[in-house]
Amino acid sequence: MNTNILVIGSGGREHALAWKLAKSAKVDHVYVAPGNSGTALEHKVSNIELTDITQLIQFAREKQILFTLVGPEAPLAEGIVDQFRNSGLKIWGPTKFCAQLESSKVFAKEFMLEHNIPTAKYSVFDNEPQALDYLGLQTLPIVIKADGLAAGKGVLVAQTIIEATDFIKDIFGQNKFGNAGSRVVIEEFLDGIEASFIVMIDENGNILPMASSQDHKRLLDDDKGPNTGGMGAYSPAPIVTDQIHQKVIDHVIRPVIDGMRNKGHAYSGFLYAGLMIDKNNQIKTLEFNCRFGDPETQPIMSRLENDLFDLIENGINGQLDKINAKWVDEFAIGVVLAAEGYPDAPRKNDIILGLDMIKNMPDIHVFHAGAKLDNKQVYTASGRVLCVIGMDKDLQIAQKKVYAAIKLITFKGMQYRTDIANTAKIYI
Ligand code: AMP
Ligand code: GLY
Repeated sequence: MNTNILVIGSGGREHALAWKLAKSAKVDHVYVAPGNSGTALEHKVSNIELTDITQLIQFAREKQILFTLVGPEAPLAEGIVDQFRNSGLKIWGPTKFCAQLESSKVFAKEFMLEHNIPTAKYSVFDNEPQALDYLGLQTLPIVIKADGLAAGKGVLVAQTIIEATDFIKDIFGQNKFGNAGSRVVIEEFLDGIEASFIVMIDENGNILPMASSQDHKRLLDDDKGPNTGGMGAYSPAPIVTDQIHQKVIDHVIRPVIDGMRNKGHAYSGFLYAGLMIDKNNQIKTLEFNCRFGDPETQPIMSRLENDLFDLIENGINGQLDKINAKWVDEFAIGVVLAAEGYPDAPRKNDIILGLDMIKNMPDIHVFHAGAKLDNKQVYTASGRVLCVIGMDKDLQIAQKKVYAAIKLITFKGMQYRTDIANTAKIYI
């Protein structure tokens, strides 16, 4: 019987996961729903135009899919894992209950408080007058978060009372985020350096940490401009020392596993803790994501030596204790090429040139994201278009390689940060 795998999603993360799964000698075919131009062009991979969970279940049955891997948060919040499992299908990801750690900031903050997981002090509001009264008593900067999923746009780090007030008014008065904004969290600003801490957790409570990484959330160099889904990421992140790693496992990850179990729900799937690390190496949890990061997946998968199929299969079978993840001992730096107007109103349908020129460049790899294929030509299709990876043992050389490759790619209005991985230089 053929071994067929299904990957859900259409971003750079899903291209990287599908690419890595397709490399496995144990995998015959990877279907990606709905996928992008990158997955369309990949050997042993094809796209299917489905997003509806019932139809995906039917497809998984028809193609005798061995297991399904979920990329983005929306289907997890919708309960795709529960529905696949109820249909007797194997799937990797947390249940709807556990996915609340990402789908509700209020749930996540209450969970952290209840289980002593270090995080910023906060208050929750469900109406504008009380939120504004509270705001008036706070010091700046201050952080305001819409409760629900908002594609990375639901958080404002406000430097002035005016922007904070406007954001709260937009959320409650203008209904900016719909239901996702029916409550807001207002929390203290934390200073420090961010890191993405991603692990696999199986239902027996085994933890398999992924390589450390760091994202760059702001649109512009030097962390200026609005928050985005992530403009670039690199791995490893030297700020995550062995000591910090252990602290996060003990004080953040393990309490999630135990806390969920106490609530009658075993967590299984990827878990991503967004961390703030201060100058005294104290850690606080900014957020949880119940999935792999995007763009963190792209550099992390570029470094993974194991067969990803083995990792996911052991994860689904509750046997992550039987596997050790091995990582290429090099820096992988991923730079996102975004469309003009991203994150607010990205331009679409522009032709992308130069991909052929970098195809065979050593230590360079391109993952597609918001890009589509039309008559063998690749076009932009949404905000984050491509993620270019450069690898080298030496961080600065990896940086030089990735930016040299990017120079060969063009599309109208292309924008990218020129300082991805600069933060790592402080540590080496
Ligand atoms: P979140 O979705 O909660 O991770 O927030 C998105 C981004 O906003 C984070 O990656 C941080 O850059 C920033 N952020 C969130 N919460 C805080 C905080 N309490 N202090 C400082 N920055 C924050
Ligand atoms: N890169 C941040 C995220 O995946 O949410």
